[in-house]
Amino acid sequence: MTSVPHGRLKLQRTSPGPPDERRARMPPTSQVSDSSASSRAGAGDAAPAGEAAISVHGLSKSFGAVRALDDVSFEAAPGTVLGLLGPNGAGKTTAVRVLATLLRPDAGTARVAGLDVVKDATKLRHRIGLAGQYAAIDENLTGLENLVMVGRLYGMPRAQARTRGRELLTSFDLLEAADRPAKTYSGGMRRRLDLADALVAKPPVLFLDEPTTGLDPRSRLTLWETIEALVDEGTTVLLTTQYLDEADRLADRIAVIDQGRVIADGTPDELKDRVGGERLEVHLTDASQAPAAARALATMSDEPPAADGDVVKLTVRRRSGAIVEAVRLLGEAGVGVDDLGLRRPTLDDVFLSLTGHVAESADDDEGMAA
Ligand SMILES: Nc1ncnc2c1ncn2[C@@H]1O[C@H](COP(=O)(O)OP(=O)(O)O)[C@@H](O)[C@H]1O
Ligand SMILES: [Mg+2]
Repeated sequence: MTSVPHGRLKLQRTSPGPPDERRARMPPTSQVSDSSASSRAGAGDAAPAGEAAISVHGLSKSFGAVRALDDVSFEAAPGTVLGLLGPNGAGKTTAVRVLATLLRPDAGTARVAGLDVVKDATKLRHRIGLAGQYAAIDENLTGLENLVMVGRLYGMPRAQARTRGRELLTSFDLLEAADRPAKTYSGGMRRRLDLADALVAKPPVLFLDEPTTGLDPRSRLTLWETIEALVDEGTTVLLTTQYLDEADRLADRIAVIDQGRVIADGTPDELKDRVGGERLEVHLTDASQAPAAARALATMSDEPPAADGDVVKLTVRRRSGAIVEAVRLLGEAGVGVDDLGLRRPTLDDVFLSLTGHVAESADDDEGMAA
């Protein structure tokens, strides 16, 4: 059947964060990093044996009357990707900022790579990388110099930092601009450089806060492949995203947060199973027949079929025979069908069912300000 693009959560434009965000990936040069200087991060770097690479218990943080995090708990095993998913304002960035030592929690504990985010903050900064929702790069340095500087701050030898820097510039299609000051870069180029910055030292734990928002499809795929390669080497990644297909592809586990609380937690498959029910999707030859199609198919479902343009969707009561029955009912009603098929629930369905928010389709890609 025709594949239906996954939607994404509606996201309002995010204003630039505080300047201290960059600190997380800039440990002081005087302290030599033990683990992040190595050319590859091993799973053992992420946390002492047996300990989760990220573990959060009862975390709370308020801004005035707003409870941005309200008794939040989740864990990520070393060498896995944890997806933090939730609508705009859910508390995702607040959680990332606490974990990246940029914000003190009001209550609860959080450990990253075996270190407490409050008590061991300075030491922890050597072991984490962060890419925020906006570009944070040194304007006056070239792209390559930016990457080499970050690598050096993490204790990498210069030659190794240059090699890794060139590798990343190639991956993110920035090699031609490698020797130009970053201030000449476009918004999209800055975003890609910001991501390369976070990836250069291969720290054992990476925080990526909506890393692909506003990124072109090719860079998005590059980033996914880069994340997958790092995770294969043992890196632990906490990824917040508004793209449900991104979470589905990358995340081993997903914590869904809404209004500062974790409302569901599990593997993508577990979350889909929780929603239950096979979806029948019918693509019509003529969108004006959608109401007729919805009426014709109503007997197959406990809920009214939903029509959206030339697509009609319903959760079928029984999987077996559903396609044959749908074809018969639509034929009797004189509805022209382009394509129809059954599919498992997607994360979009999970969202709708958990949060009541529809995951809206990505028709207004929000690029970052240049
Ligand atoms: N520095 C701040 N001051 C006041 N309110 C904040 C601040 N940071 C976040 N908030 C509020 O906390 C809530 C969670 O925000 P955030 O963590 O940025 O959500 P998300 O990243 O999921 O969109 C929102 O209501 C937001 O307005
Ligand atoms: Mg955010």
